[in-house]
Parts: sequence; C-alpha cells; structure tokens
Amino acid sequence: MNVMDRVDLRGNAGLWAGVVVVFFMIAVMPVWAHAGNGNAKQGEKIVKTRKLGNCVACHYLPNVESPGDIGPNLVDVMQEYTLADRKDVTQWVRDARKFNPHTIMPPFGTNKILTPKQIDDVVAYLYTLKK
Ligand code: HEC
Repeated sequence: MNVMDRVDLRGNAGLWAGVVVVFFMIAVMPVWAHAGNGNAKQGEKIVKTRKLGNCVACHYLPNVESPGDIGPNLVDVMQEYTLADRKDVTQWVRDARKFNPHTIMPPFGTNKILTPKQIDDVVAYLYTLKK
C-alpha cells in the first residue's frame, strides 16, 4: 500500500463517519424531541409538593406517605401510555376538561397553577413511572 492509498482510505473513513452521524441525527433526534426536555427530578418535587402540583392529594404515586385515591393510580396509568402519547399526557395535566368536562382535576395549565415548563417537568417525571 503506498502513501496515497492510505490517505484515500482515511478520507473515506471520514466520509462514512459523517454519514453515520447524519443518520443518527435523523433517526434518533425525533425520539429525543418526543421524550421532551422536562426535568424529571424537578417534576417529582412538583407532583409531591402541596403548594405546587399536589397530585398526590388525589393520585397514588410511589414513595409518598398516604397518597390520595380520588384519581387513578398514576403508575398504572403510565403503563398504558407510550412516548407517542406525550401530547395527551401533557394535555391531562394542562387541562383535563378536554377529556372530561366534569373532571374534578384542576386545570394546572389553564389556571396558571403550573407554568408550561413545570408541566413539562411533571410529564418527564410521569414517564419515569413506566416499567
Ligand atoms: C382534585 C384531585 C386531583 C388532582 C389534585 C390531580 N388529579 Fe389527575 N385526575 C383526577 C381524576 C379524578 C382523574 C380521572 C379522570 C377524570 O377526572 O375524568 C385524573 C386523571 C389524571 C390523568 C389521566 C389518567 C388516565 O386515565 O389517562 C393524569 C395523567 C393525571 N390525572 C395526572 C395528574 C397530575 C400530574 C397531577 C398533578 C399536577 C394531578 N393529576 C392532580 C384527579 C386529580
């Protein structure tokens, strides 16, 4: 193999690395986008804090002392949702009246109890409950 061949090979390797990177971005980025950019740790704090989400007043969530049972167990609920349903899960938290006009669940987004960022965080936390 002469020097020119080696240079050629290296040139090709660079090209292929580029192709792999671009493919990776096209294939994986939408999944990341769907996973959202909420902060699950913040979300956990929000759902369990009385003055913020206080979801535990009505819903079972793990590692909480005497959670409520007015609403469905959110661990069970989340097993039914995939990442593709992220919009619906977000809508439930933003304003559950879209799904049930008579719900007793507070419209956290519409009533500005939580900011859109806090709702993203809550949804990110909810997805950590999927087994
Ligand atoms: C006052 C009680 C109450 C509070 C507080 C509450 N919820 Fe709910 N939630 C309910 C009830 C009741 C339902 C059942 C659906 C309905 O009302 O039609 C529900 C439904 C849901 C659903 C949809 C369940 C399904 O079957 O798909 C999600 C997700 C949810 N709640 C998340 C939350 C989160 C997150 C919070 C806190 C930010 C919260 N809820 C706070 C009462 C509550």
